[in-house]
Amino acid sequence: MFGDTVQLHGRDDELRELDRLRESVRGGQSAALVIRGEAGMGKTALLRYAAQRALPDFRVARIAGVESEAELPYAGLHQFCAPMLGHLDALAEPQQSALSVAFGLTGGAAPDRFLVGLATLSLLAEVAAARPLMCLIDDVQWLDAASSDILGFVARRLAAESVAMVFAARDGAAGANLGRLTGLPVMTLSGVSGEDARALLATVVPGRLDPGVCDRVVAETGGNPLALLELPRGMSPAELAAGFGPTAGGAVADVESHYAVRLSRLPEPTRRLMLLAAADGAGTCRPSGGPRPSSASGSRPPGPR
Ligand SMILES: Nc1ncnc2c1ncn2[C@@H]1O[C@H](COP(=O)(O)OP(=O)(O)O)[C@@H](O)[C@H]1O
Ligand SMILES: [Mg+2]
Repeated sequence: MFGDTVQLHGRDDELRELDRLRESVRGGQSAALVIRGEAGMGKTALLRYAAQRALPDFRVARIAGVESEAELPYAGLHQFCAPMLGHLDALAEPQQSALSVAFGLTGGAAPDRFLVGLATLSLLAEVAAARPLMCLIDDVQWLDAASSDILGFVARRLAAESVAMVFAARDGAAGANLGRLTGLPVMTLSGVSGEDARALLATVVPGRLDPGVCDRVVAETGGNPLALLELPRGMSPAELAAGFGPTAGGAVADVESHYAVRLSRLPEPTRRLMLLAAADGAGTCRPSGGPRPSSASGSRPPGPR
C-alpha cells in the first residue's frame, strides 16, 4: 500500500528513532517529529518506512503538500482530514462548525483558526480512540500557510492520544512553513557516508568500482542518496573516473541537469506527456484514452513518492 520496501543504507539511527516514536505511540503516548534535509536525502523514504512499519496495527494518514495548492487556505488540512470526517459529529459543536466552514461543508464567516486547530486535534483523538494513528505529512514546503499553522499547532498539543505526527520538509524551500513547526523535535538528514555510501553506489554501478573513484563520487554528491543513485546512471567506469565536474549548484542541481539531458533524448510524445505530468501537481494526469483516476476530488492523497 505504501510502495515497495527500499533497503535504506546508512540510516540506522534514524530508523531506530522512528521505531522508538512508533512504539511509544503504540503504548499510548503521542509524539511529533520534523525530518529536514535537502531534496533527495531520503525524507520520503523514511516516511515510507514509518508507514510500512506502522501497519497493520496503526491507522496511517499520509499526505503530501502540493505545490499548485500552496496558495489555497486549508487545502492541505482538507487533504489530511477528509478521510476522517466521518468522526465530525463527535466534536463539540463550535469545533464541528469551525471545521465544516473551513472545508466549505457549511456556510458562515471565516472560522477562528484557534477553533480549527482544536477541532483538528479533537478529530485526531477521536480517530485514534479505535487504534493508534500515524500521521505522515510530506513536502511541508508546499503546504498552504493555514494548514501548516494548524498542523504545527496540533502537533505541539499532542499529549496521550496515541497519535504520531511526522513531518518532512525540504531544507531551503520550507522557509516560513518550517517556522510554523517551531518547538517540535527535529531530525536533520545529512548525506550518507563511508561504507553505506559505497554500498548504495554499488547498487547502480555494475562491476567493481575503483575505491578512489568511488570515494570521489561520494564526495562530489555529498552522500545525497538521490544523486548517488541517479548521477552515475548510464556512465561507464571510465566516465565515472573522470568525475562529474565542478558542482556549482550542488548535487541536486546536478541531478536536475542530468534529468534534463535524459529527457532531451526521449521521443517527443513521451516528453510532452512528462511535461503534462509535471504540471499536474495532484498526480492525476493520464494519457488520452487511459483510465480515469479513481477520484477527482482534492481529498485524494497522492500516492507514495
Ligand atoms: N538511505 C538510503 N538508502 C537507499 N536509497 C535511498 C536512501 N535514501 C533515499 N534513497 C532513495 O533515494 C531517492 C530519493 O529519496 P527521497 O526519499 O525521495 O528523498 P527526499 O524525499 O528527501 O527528496 C529515492 O529513490 C529513495 O528510495
Ligand atoms: Mg520527498
